[in-house]
Amino acid sequence: MTNKFHTVRPVANALLPQFFVETYGCQMNVNDSEVVVSVMQEAGYSLCNTIDYAEIIFINTCSIRDNAEQRIWGRLEVFNHLKKKNRSLKVGVLGCMAKRLKEEILSHPAVDLVAGPDAYRKLPKLLESVNQGEKQIEVNFNDLETYSDISPVRTDPNGVSAFVSIMRGCNNMCAYCVVPFVRGRERSRDPKSIRFEVEELVKNGYKEVTLIGQNVDSYLWVDPNHNPDQNLNFAKLLEVVALIDPKLRIRFATSHPKDMGNGVLYTMAMYPNICNHIHLPVQSGSDRMLSKMNRNYTRERYLERVAAIRQILPECTISTDFIAGFCDESPQDHADTLSLMHTVKFDQAFMFQYSERPNTKAAEAYPDNVPEETKTQRLNEIIALQNQLSLESNQRDVGKTFEVLVEGPSKRSDLDLFGRTPQNKVCVFPRENAQIGDFVKVTVSSCSSATLIGSLAEKSSSRK
Ligand code: 5AD
Ligand code: SF4
Repeated sequence: MTNKFHTVRPVANALLPQFFVETYGCQMNVNDSEVVVSVMQEAGYSLCNTIDYAEIIFINTCSIRDNAEQRIWGRLEVFNHLKKKNRSLKVGVLGCMAKRLKEEILSHPAVDLVAGPDAYRKLPKLLESVNQGEKQIEVNFNDLETYSDISPVRTDPNGVSAFVSIMRGCNNMCAYCVVPFVRGRERSRDPKSIRFEVEELVKNGYKEVTLIGQNVDSYLWVDPNHNPDQNLNFAKLLEVVALIDPKLRIRFATSHPKDMGNGVLYTMAMYPNICNHIHLPVQSGSDRMLSKMNRNYTRERYLERVAAIRQILPECTISTDFIAGFCDESPQDHADTLSLMHTVKFDQAFMFQYSERPNTKAAEAYPDNVPEETKTQRLNEIIALQNQLSLESNQRDVGKTFEVLVEGPSKRSDLDLFGRTPQNKVCVFPRENAQIGDFVKVTVSSCSSATLIGSLAEKSSSRK
């Protein structure tokens, strides 16, 4: 493995068309699109920031739920319309849906190219063939691909916070989840290349990185030269990254309740620049559902992990994911989810109703037998309870002062800025003389269930 990065020289080549990338889905897709930009720029193409001038449109897709896929089909109709106006326009479908639907998506009249998550290095070659007039598809898995040597081109205009991929794929096979089928086997990225990428981000003025993987707790680097001293687990990697610069904020996601050990929690406690927030998806509060989902932990084990977080990191917030209406979910199973929510008092949550995904264990073995209205009703109950819990969590912060990393103007008013606390709560405050990218101290005066509202505390404490 090499830790040498391709230097991206954005050479605008008049002969090569401009490309545009539209991204759907998770943080992993955001980061993958940045890899795509890097690969394309290296080949001489130039990125354009509006779809109107693009001669190539890439759409990076998500398959996690059916409604995510429906949105993409809708976009392809729009692109088809654009192609009628611009005959030389080319459309490439990337990501999870490309891998899942293969030829089915290639046969859409708008689509010229289909490339799965492990095929992005080949995009320039595939485009050459497309230009010869033939549709192209490359969706094979490559269990060694981590794009380690590619420096993603950050397209975030503020340059404050960046995602850094530390692993790809997932081996967990949760019964409802399409991810292992579309992203392949889990593989961890060379820690040297992770460190190098973070160091480059610091040099370029970034203030925060989020280390991302489907299950960061199973990150494992085994030294190819069989030197056990060079092996690294996630807790150790976190420490390596935290030591790069004490002023750099570190976040990570996603943690898995079956794998998250105390080592990670102790590392978080040791380094103040690692943010006190853990995203720990629970999915359900019922042991019967957890077992059917193949999550490999019980409600008791989950609560034990929460207790460990609270004991080792008293200031840490916990967010989670829920699925309402999984196969066979009874009123009692649903009640167990609500009671778990009351017990844990999650600070934030992402909540979904179950959507059956083809080829998963659940699709093959369990009937999707909770009626849609029941799923929706249960989801609404979960959302209502979480809104109340999030509000209570935010109310506990009123009167406290937090260090906020300023990310941009607030949505509602240019006179206000917004940023996030280490606990990952969005905080809005009057701008005064704070700048995007500053760390400022904000004292919280009020809140809603989604936002903390405050004002700048002693300005001298701001750090650049
Ligand atoms: N239906 C609904 N939600 C799902 N998720 C994953 N697969 C499905 C599905 N088939 C949710 C889980 C996961 C999050 C990323 O998406 O809660 O943690
Ligand atoms: Fe899907 Fe489970 Fe892997 Fe998460 S851990 S990506 S839910 S299979």
